[in-house]
Formats: sequence, structure tokens, C-alpha cells
Amino acid sequence: MHRRSIAIVTFGCQMNDRDSEALVGIFLDKGYILTEDIYQADVILVNTCSVRKHAEDRAISFIGSIRKIIEYRQGKNNSLRSVVGLIGCMARSRGEEIFKKMPHVNLICSSAMLYKLPEYAEEILKGDKDRIIDLEDNKREEWFYHSPFRFDKNHAYVVISTGCSNYCSYCVVPYVRGELRLRDPQDIIEEVKKNISLGIKKITLLGQNVNDYYYIYSDNYSGVRILGGEEIKDKNIFSFVDLLKELDKIDEIEEIDFITSHPKNTSRDLFYLMANSKKFKKHLHLPFQSGSDRILKLMNRGYTKDKYLSLVDDFKMIVKGTLSTDVIVGFPTETEDDFLHTKDVLEKVKFKYAYIFKYSVRQNTQSAKLEDDVSQGEKERRHRILLELQKRLSLSI
Ligand code: SAH
Ligand code: SF4
Ligand code: F3S
Repeated sequence: MHRRSIAIVTFGCQMNDRDSEALVGIFLDKGYILTEDIYQADVILVNTCSVRKHAEDRAISFIGSIRKIIEYRQGKNNSLRSVVGLIGCMARSRGEEIFKKMPHVNLICSSAMLYKLPEYAEEILKGDKDRIIDLEDNKREEWFYHSPFRFDKNHAYVVISTGCSNYCSYCVVPYVRGELRLRDPQDIIEEVKKNISLGIKKITLLGQNVNDYYYIYSDNYSGVRILGGEEIKDKNIFSFVDLLKELDKIDEIEEIDFITSHPKNTSRDLFYLMANSKKFKKHLHLPFQSGSDRILKLMNRGYTKDKYLSLVDDFKMIVKGTLSTDVIVGFPTETEDDFLHTKDVLEKVKFKYAYIFKYSVRQNTQSAKLEDDVSQGEKERRHRILLELQKRLSLSI
């Protein structure tokens, strides 16, 4: 009997890596086999990223090239049906357009609805439906995360929240992934324990801004939540730091880390916990994006250069660890002076590594209303200067 096969190609961040893995898990549970041979696969899924134009262009060109595969399969045997799915972040930003322009793409599905994919694939393969598009934004079904399949046998990504409600002005994530949604701490802990039973001892927690994590309990749990840099004490709130403390109690875990932390609500509590338990990796990814207070305000980031540098000082003093970051050059209206402030932060902090991006206009975002007035040549010049600087700085760490 022909066993159905699935191939998956992933673009974008660790969130997408984990989503692809969880998807493979639920397809395997339905009896599929995983293949790298997209010429043979019954279901080809392309998990996409919208964060910059370049990321979208790469996925579109890849998905365009799949057309030949479909023609090859259909030429070989007319009865061979396949599923070609564009899934993930681009579904909500470009899905409708791609559905119209690329008839060989017969499935489009938003990140929130990925758990429905085996059902949709079945409908298409059986011939019940020719094409399906689902762009819903809902809380995911919890069972999506619980298939035991992992690509890496030593390390697991564990999602603690999906979406984001920070609305940094340049960022498309809240639109393509939806508002911040939180998993129940008990479910997260259960997933971690399941990984431990598979022999995995290293865990990376994933959230767009892990410090936004909270859970409201009706009992008298005493927790602290940091919102916009302000401490909010509420006896019923279980915070990100509380979640880490719970995980810290699990003896079998050897290493815990988490991405990404937002400077506006990263707390000193977190640093003390990182310093006091040997389970925590002594490294923090703390994107600062720009060193100019004026640009940070336009970006809606909620901190200043000085606040960022003082947070870094505390991290270095308390955790004594290394840092990495993300930077955007060429945000609308960015002057040479603004840029020099960004350069100054790189020089002062000395990150172990830094991801440096050229600003890219994203539809629907607040900054899309501003003129993209830094020329491509200037963006490239600033990008090159920071890359070279960071290369030198990394060598000294
Ligand atoms: N949630 C994380 C990461 C978001 S996306 C955070 O808040 O840090 C990863 C990185 O892509 C961002 O940190 C930012 O540096 C970059 N990025 C996001 N939107 C961008 C845009 N429109 N143009 C250029 N870079 C962008
Ligand atoms: Fe985007 Fe800002 Fe949310 Fe990060 S915190 S995902 S940059 S809106
Ligand atoms: Fe890209 Fe979506 Fe991640 S836009 S960076 S794959 S959350």
C-alpha cells in the first residue's frame, strides 16, 4: 500500500522551525512518512516568513519553482494528486494574492490554524476539495504541541506564547501571527517533561517577547509581572520568571535558555535567577534595534538608549554573561547622527554576535505610513559599517 509522504521546507525564525517540527509530528501520527524528496512527496509544505521583503521574495521564488515538480508528477501519472501548501506568516500577508496568482498552490494556511493541515491535506488528496485557504487567527489547539516528534534528539524548542501585542512600528509579526496568546504553564511543563522522558535535557523557550508571558491563576499565587518597565504586583499573576523557577526545579534539565527578551520589560529578577541557577545559559538575546532615542520612539520600543545601557550594565554585573542583539539600519528619517548612536551602542556593549538588518517596509505597520526615505545605497553603507565593526568586536570577546 502507498504510504503518503510529506516534505516541509522552512523559512524564518525558530518559531517556524518549531511549528514545522510539530506539524511533521502530527502528520507522522496520521501514518505519513517524512521525505526530503519534494519530487515524490504527496504533501509539500512551505512554511514562510514575512519579517522583511527579502524573506518573502525567497519563499515566493521557491514556491514558484515547485510548479515544475507538480507538472512532472502530473505528467508521469495523471492521477497523482499533491498538496502544495504555503503556510505560516506569509499566509496572512500575501496568501490571497498568491492563491490568485499561483494556481499550483492549492493550500494556504495561517500559523494559528496549522493544526488543521492533516485534515485539509486529506480533503485535497481524496479529491473532496481542489483548493483550501484558511487565514483564521485563533488560539491554537493545545494538542498541536504534544506530538513527541523532534528533529533534534538533544535539544527542544518549547513555545510559551504565540503572536505579539507590542506593535513595534516596523514589525509585521502582530498582523501575521496575531495578538499575544499564552499557553497554560501546566501544559508547558508537561511538554518539557515529555521531552525529558525522550532523553532531551536542553530546552529553549520561545516567545516573541518572553517577558510578556503571564498566567492568571485564581488561587493565591504570589507573582510579579513587568509591564512597560513597570512592576505590577498581583497575587494571582504567574510571570515568566515564575515559569522559569518552576522549570528550574526539574532536576533532569541540564540547560535552559529563552528567546526573545524585550528590553522594555526584561527584569532584574530574571538576571538574579539566571545568575543563581547553573541550569540557565549565561547568554541573553536582547535586541536594541537603534541607539537613537528619537528613532526608538518612532519604533514604539518603549525604552531609551540610556535605559538599555543601564539594563546591560546590570546584566553584566549580575549574570556576568554574554549578549547578542538585533539592529535595524535605515529606519525612516534616520540621520547620520542617529546611526552613530546605534554604532555607539555596539561599541559600548560588545555583543558576542549581532544580527544587522536593513529596514524593509511592511504592509499595515505603523511605520509604513512614513516615507522610506533612507536610500538603498545609504542603508547598505550603514549595514556594511556595522557588520565590519561587529566582526572586529566579536573577535575580542
Ligand atoms: N520578537 C523579536 C523578533 C522579531 S523579528 C523581537 O522583538 O526582538 C526579528 C528581527 O527582525 C527584529 O528584531 C528586527 O531587528 C528585524 N525586523 C523586524 N521587522 C523589520 C523590518 N520591517 N525591517 C527590517 N528588519 C526588521
Ligand atoms: Fe515585532 Fe516588536 Fe513584537 Fe518583536 S516585540 S515581534 S519586534 S512587534
Ligand atoms: Fe518571520 Fe514569522 Fe518568525 S514573520 S521572523 S517566521 S514569526
